Amino acid sequence: MRRLYYLLVCALALSCGAPKDKDTAQGAQPGDIIPAPVEYALTSGSVESAKVAQLPQKVKISEKALSKRLNGKELTDWQLKGAYWLEVGKKTVKIEAADEEGVFYARQSLKMLAALDSTVTCCTILDWPRFQYRGLMLDVSRNFQDKEFVKKQLEMMALLKMNRFHFHLVDNPGWRLQIDAYPRLTQFTAWRPIPDFWEWEDSGGDVSGGAFVEEGTPGAYGGYYSKEDIAELLAFAAERQIEVIPEIEMPGHNYETRAAYPELVCSLMKAPDDWELCPGKESTYEFLENVLLEVFEMFPSPYIHIGGDEAGKRNWELCPDCQARIKAEGLQNVEELQSYMIKRMERFAHEHGKRIIGWDEILEGGLAPDATVMSWRGTEGGLKAIAQGHDVIFTPSRYCYLDHQQDSLQYKPVSSPVPLEKVYSFEPLVEGISEADVHHVLGLQGSLWTEWVHEAWHAEIMLYPRAFAIAEVGWSQADKKNYPDFERRARAWSAVARQMGYNVYDSKNKQYTK
Ligand code: ACM
Ligand code: ZN
Repeated sequence: MRRLYYLLVCALALSCGAPKDKDTAQGAQPGDIIPAPVEYALTSGSVESAKVAQLPQKVKISEKALSKRLNGKELTDWQLKGAYWLEVGKKTVKIEAADEEGVFYARQSLKMLAALDSTVTCCTILDWPRFQYRGLMLDVSRNFQDKEFVKKQLEMMALLKMNRFHFHLVDNPGWRLQIDAYPRLTQFTAWRPIPDFWEWEDSGGDVSGGAFVEEGTPGAYGGYYSKEDIAELLAFAAERQIEVIPEIEMPGHNYETRAAYPELVCSLMKAPDDWELCPGKESTYEFLENVLLEVFEMFPSPYIHIGGDEAGKRNWELCPDCQARIKAEGLQNVEELQSYMIKRMERFAHEHGKRIIGWDEILEGGLAPDATVMSWRGTEGGLKAIAQGHDVIFTPSRYCYLDHQQDSLQYKPVSSPVPLEKVYSFEPLVEGISEADVHHVLGLQGSLWTEWVHEAWHAEIMLYPRAFAIAEVGWSQADKKNYPDFERRARAWSAVARQMGYNVYDSKNKQYTK
């Protein structure tokens, strides 16, 4: 049967003039899952893949039982929760784990084994995660994606044992989250008259107030997630052991907030085209707190991402409210004014049982006491934060920004290349991090910005196969790092993912399909 399938694939490949060295699951070897597990051992026999899902599963949730399998290996609490032992026998599947999370990951491994080949060779797998944060970020502000698209990516994340979805919900070109207290954010600034991001930006309409149109305007481009949509997405993610972390940007990247509520920016401007919120006015904090209260109610994550990146501070130098705030709070400059805002929002988050994450610019002017830093401008910000005793998530743009091209032929990317091998080469335990500070490295994230990425198929060819590399760097142990081996598995999984309906870039042949 398998041989017949192989001949059929070859015949099709030849008849279509497809490249010889095509992504195919045919080269898959037993145990070729992504991310690579800690231990994989062959036992005897095999099971038809189509029958694997029907095999009876004997599941034992017991820390003691799992500890025996670990054979003296000590794991952290969060590693233990994700750890599992899996045995695929001819007649049964056995799973041992300390927690439901480990059972879930055992089942993902099983699904992947079955998807990769027509038979699953009987085996045992012992496995646990290397890092606790294995993330993917999607920017739905610049280009909106509906909830079905988001679910589809959550499904792939789950198969790859990724567990944090950073939802970049608001930014200059569109606000995407229902907030009852401020309906203009979605009745107006979730909708653009110009769908293409760059055309929209070049039109300069934001300053004159024409950048957005009322919801329901014929031809309007955009969308947003209602509270019901968010509840549905969160339930879908939680069933797959994925935590969704919302980002509400402040004080920069706020064109859209300014268009909906113009009173939130500085009253006297040095740079009228800048789009920062005014950290001088008390009413800005009232707005942010009211928004966050609704966000906290919607999202159970212990974290809120408050942005903090790329805030132009020119208006704050002239604004009487900002200058009065600087004086009243004994601040030295506008950097410290941003820091004042972030620290104040952190106190508010703490009052509601939440912790903040911010882009590495939040280091400037003084870091909020408990903030986690998302290091994107290289790894320096992360290292500085660790030196101050803070937690860090790495998403350095040169390795982890998935809006960059995989190669020179890729459809509409940011031009500086971030090929699959480069992503895979990233090591989150950056040189200079001491053994005592390793626990501050929460993990890494692949980040997909969408200035160039308008359509779902395009978002997927940017995400895949590079998300496979993020997943493996985040989960697999350092001694498993082996690019040729990973590339072979990534090519096999690319072929399977395509059959599942994903658009996966063929990085070897530099091809994509719409
Ligand atoms: C960023 O890329 N501005 C975080
Ligand atoms: Zn101001």
